[in-house]
Amino acid sequence: MKKGNVLVGQSGGPTAVINSSLAGVFKTAMDRGFNKVYGMRYGIQGFMDEQYVDLSDYIKNELDLELLKRTPSAFLGTCRYKMPAIHEDRSVYERIFELLDKMDIEVFIYIGGNDSMDTIKKLSDYAILTGAKQRFIGCPKTIDNDLALTDHTPGFGSAAKYIGTSTKEIIRDCLGFSYQKKNVTVIEVMGRNAGWLTGATALSKGEDCDGPDMIFLPEVPFDLKKFKEQVEKLLKKKDVVVAAVSEGIKDANGTYICQLTAGSESVDAFGHIQMTGTASFLANYIHDELGCKTRAVEFSTLQRAAAHLASRIDINEAFMVGGAAVKAADEGISGVMVVIDRLSDDPYQSTTGVYDVHRIANDEKLVPRNWINKDGNYVTDEFIDYVRPLIQGDYQPMMVGGLPRHLTMNSKGYKDLYNADK
Ligand code: F6P
Repeated sequence: MKKGNVLVGQSGGPTAVINSSLAGVFKTAMDRGFNKVYGMRYGIQGFMDEQYVDLSDYIKNELDLELLKRTPSAFLGTCRYKMPAIHEDRSVYERIFELLDKMDIEVFIYIGGNDSMDTIKKLSDYAILTGAKQRFIGCPKTIDNDLALTDHTPGFGSAAKYIGTSTKEIIRDCLGFSYQKKNVTVIEVMGRNAGWLTGATALSKGEDCDGPDMIFLPEVPFDLKKFKEQVEKLLKKKDVVVAAVSEGIKDANGTYICQLTAGSESVDAFGHIQMTGTASFLANYIHDELGCKTRAVEFSTLQRAAAHLASRIDINEAFMVGGAAVKAADEGISGVMVVIDRLSDDPYQSTTGVYDVHRIANDEKLVPRNWINKDGNYVTDEFIDYVRPLIQGDYQPMMVGGLPRHLTMNSKGYKDLYNADK
């Protein structure tokens, strides 16, 4: 029987490898004989406005595919849209399923994090309720690494590699600058309520670098006064202090440190506040209290967009989970998310599986307390052993004019790239 079409969307915060999953979906769907692969523009929100593209208009050959794998951010555009519950607004579901039927969509794949898995959960529930033919599969993605039941998430390894590298370079810079001058640098890392990315600053520690002096994860309440005392104590012994903090550290009352800064607070559809300013608050605080030179570094979007430093393991796994999502749907499965199972650390090997999305949506996997030291200001060797394999290998960008070339909706892929180089 002739197969129908696949619809794929990207949702939530982008990563350096989210497009590798898109490439995996496209390639596997074509190889398995699906008719067309449509891409939602700006996730489910754009799709409801009938914004979609035929991906074969953009991916014409293997080289386009390779370029897409090396392109950071979401090729299709993402959204942060909270689906209403079915009983709250059935019309949203009717609209989506009317479009799915009209476009002969057989498989719906959403590449995203925990909030996006909520969309897969609700749509697959509605399909069961109404007997709709479509199958719904979640494809994991988030730099935050906070999805349950998967060993890790695509996007995390590359962000961790960038964070480890940049932390090392920052420490080197501080040391080269410190002649008889005390200085304190506070580095702020993304990850909301999960400290996986902040812990990755410890990767910088090795023969040629001591790593940060302290690392504060959101899993442990942050004590401002104690922080000052710890910095003061360190400054008695050394000139350079580097501390890494999660954007989501909060005090014992649950107040985020970033909320102590003045300024407006923006909140997304899921009620997540935009976290920014933790490092600059702390750097100012230390400067005011201790009078030394301080600097705040916020990795911000750099940590999720740094495709030039992507991990090969991560890019390959992102591609693999995209393919596994299509395969699962092709085998008749629905209402699941693809997970990565680690088979071994050395050599590092992994495979994919699937889990009921109801067990994953809206959950947050935090760093286990026993992977954080007793004082709550560093990660353990076990943590580092877990992350290290995920940052291995490079995936060289295709350089044009001295900079990495990306595949975009407006560029014409590799042919264009080839001509541009002449
Ligand atoms: O969910 C991924 C993430 O990168 C979080 O780590 C971060 O808090 C958030 O997105 C930032 O989102 P935005 O760029 O929309 O502020």
